[in-house]
Amino acid sequence: MEFVRLLLVFLHLLGMGMLIAMFFVQRRAGADAPLNKGWLHGSALQLLTGVALVGLAPLTDQDYDHVKIGVKTLVLVAIAALVAVNLNKPKPATWLTPALAGLVVLNVGIAVFWT
Ligand code: HEM
Repeated sequence: MEFVRLLLVFLHLLGMGMLIAMFFVQRRAGADAPLNKGWLHGSALQLLTGVALVGLAPLTDQDYDHVKIGVKTLVLVAIAALVAVNLNKPKPATWLTPALAGLVVLNVGIAVFWT
């Protein structure tokens, strides 16, 4: 079961990397480009792997802080909502990309510093 947890953490960290990469991909595409679907896929990966990690906690002998997990989930829901609302807009607002990246970095900070 430890391998399953490590595999989920591995995918969770790749999802984080993908979301950070999306910031640079989006910036490179220019201010007039529509929102890249990678934001949606990265958010979905974070939610799926995060929920699986929490769901399997009794089997993997983990005791996660539920308030911390709740706050991380709220931040992710905010990211996913901003992405969903703006995905089909031909030209998203200029604040959107830095705001999404800021929320991703906020969740990394919560993951690491909330002990
Ligand atoms: C943008 C969204 C997210 C980012 C960037 C993110 C980032 C991270 C990072 C960097 C870690 C490793 C921390 C460490 O080992 O010290 C981590 C661990 C974890 N995350 Fe997330 N996370 C996100 C969303 C979520 C969500 C929504 C959940 C739950 C529903 C979640 C559940 C967990 C759990 C349970 C761990 C601990 C895994 C373990 O070590 O066993 N994460 N996250």
